[in-house]
Amino acid sequence: MPMPASVAPGSGAMPIDATFAVESRGFSDARLDRAMHRLVERISRQTGIEIHGGKTVLWIECGAAGPPYPALDEDESYRLEITPSGATIRSATVTGAIRGMETFVQSIDPGANGFEAPSVRIEDHPRFAWRGLMLDVSRHWMPVPVILRNLDAMAAVKLNVFHWHLSDDQGFRVESKRFPKLQQLGSDGHFYTQAQVRSVVEYARDRGIRVIPEFDMPGHTTSWFVGYPGLASAPGPYEIERKWGIFQPAMDPSRDETYKFLDEFIAEMAALFPDPYFHIGGDEVDPAQWSQSKSIQAWAARNGFKDAHAIQGYFNRTIEKILARHGKTMIGWDEVFDTTLGHDTIMQSWRGQASLADAARAGFRGLLSFGYYLDHLQPASVHYAVDPLSGAAAGLNDEQKARILGGEACMWSEYVDAETVDSRIWPRLAAIAERFWSPASLTDIDSMYARMEPVSRLLDWVGLEHRSNYQPMLERLAGEKSAGPLRVLADASEALGIDARRDARPYSSLVPLNRFVDAARPESATVRRLELDARNLASDPAAPAELNAAFTLWAANDARLHPTGEIAELSKNLSIVGSIGLQTLEYLRTGQPAPENWIAQQTEALREIEKPSAEVTLAAVRPVRLLVEALARARTNGRNK
Ligand code: ACM
Repeated sequence: MPMPASVAPGSGAMPIDATFAVESRGFSDARLDRAMHRLVERISRQTGIEIHGGKTVLWIECGAAGPPYPALDEDESYRLEITPSGATIRSATVTGAIRGMETFVQSIDPGANGFEAPSVRIEDHPRFAWRGLMLDVSRHWMPVPVILRNLDAMAAVKLNVFHWHLSDDQGFRVESKRFPKLQQLGSDGHFYTQAQVRSVVEYARDRGIRVIPEFDMPGHTTSWFVGYPGLASAPGPYEIERKWGIFQPAMDPSRDETYKFLDEFIAEMAALFPDPYFHIGGDEVDPAQWSQSKSIQAWAARNGFKDAHAIQGYFNRTIEKILARHGKTMIGWDEVFDTTLGHDTIMQSWRGQASLADAARAGFRGLLSFGYYLDHLQPASVHYAVDPLSGAAAGLNDEQKARILGGEACMWSEYVDAETVDSRIWPRLAAIAERFWSPASLTDIDSMYARMEPVSRLLDWVGLEHRSNYQPMLERLAGEKSAGPLRVLADASEALGIDARRDARPYSSLVPLNRFVDAARPESATVRRLELDARNLASDPAAPAELNAAFTLWAANDARLHPTGEIAELSKNLSIVGSIGLQTLEYLRTGQPAPENWIAQQTEALREIEKPSAEVTLAAVRPVRLLVEALARARTNGRNK
């Protein structure tokens, strides 16, 4: 995952043992050497074998270095051939070879005689040139190791853009030497030094990943104003915002000093971030400060700006010119879209697919993020079904479609911190990465999940903590007690996303994210397997036993856990669901029709139980409901006979 463009399986397999080696023939450079070294380390970790080389070789035949810094139009294609006697990756660029190495490492699996890579011929290239992850490091601080391990995981699923949301109301996260009060007063001491930024950019470059900085403006800027209140449209003073939402502070678009400041700031950041694209945010500007300021209103009237949209349009055009002077092309969220901007500007659509199509029709390039918001904690299948070229974009002509460069998943950090963020990004991002890389025709949900789960486990060896933090977080909650029953409950639950949590309690960035909901996963793999069992009851002989084992465990779990506090009701409900499940299995086993009123009662009970509690839902309801529905169908069919 992502599925290559073309896969032709062969026969036999290449053994992966201590004699495995990776060697280059043809072009090589330090970046390729480092990638080859990382590959051997990864395979060592993944297989538990200390690899010393000497026999079975993966050859890298690379044509050239490719661009010195990863570029939008870079050739990322590769061919991979694996035979029992060895393997070869052929690519035009080092980045292509890096993509091929990730495919190779994913193909390794235990065979009868140890680890092996099955014979195969793969030809592969990306469908979209822009395949990104946006990470918000403002609302919750994400230290450098979080960034690095997520870059490794992005490379593992062939993503190539890291969009770093570096400033917002809740924190300004980069060291500015020109304007040091930005980080000194706007970050609680949680910011990246310029040396750290350079090392992250270099780390990403090594993996064929571009780094796009976002400095959100003119709204979402409270943290700038703590140190520089003169930038704002109202006098202040300002404090770092601890809550989230849309706040009134906005930059003053009418003063030359604002643009002078931004010119100098952008000059500094343009030198720090080598990518030619620069994100200015531009979303969710509250016009309150602009409409309440006499001087801004007078300035707007003098210039014929009728409303806030026109004012923001002027701000954007001015920033666009500043960026151009510093060699950068502007990106903004879809609010910046305005046909008076230069056609180079890229529009990132978060509010719907229609704005992306409108921009493409008007001659602008665009990225889709609507449908890829990871903070909503929706199932991977929901994101997988969203295609950058579907919806309103489906009606575009080929020239317009070519302007849609790809997409980015977005991880806003209101309800994630350094401990939980991996589990809110992964493994669902792997499914989105497949949408961006693989052929559009790949849409089968069961196949996606069947591949996503093993990739999730492989990402452990890449260094992610999405799985390794789960048990310790539950043990922390269990205290001196065994965490076993709590794990049963968590495995059967799914954490709710931003919409449900927003009003659940008075959250702020100072509230710890250490509760049951934070440990619970967005999507339960346990429940998904049981749903498959419930669907395949007739065809899969193992299914009834697996369902029976799970329902028995659930039915007994509340008595084992006997929890107090916010999960008490959830725990009781899991045991009720388990009992209903056991009764459905009994009806199905004996072939005795379930009484109509029993079916109605259980259906109602499950509907009640599925309502959110403690900011999670009980996913366990789903397989049981499938069985109750099967009993209802059996009754109807029986009556019709
Ligand atoms: C956004 O979600 N406000 C870009």
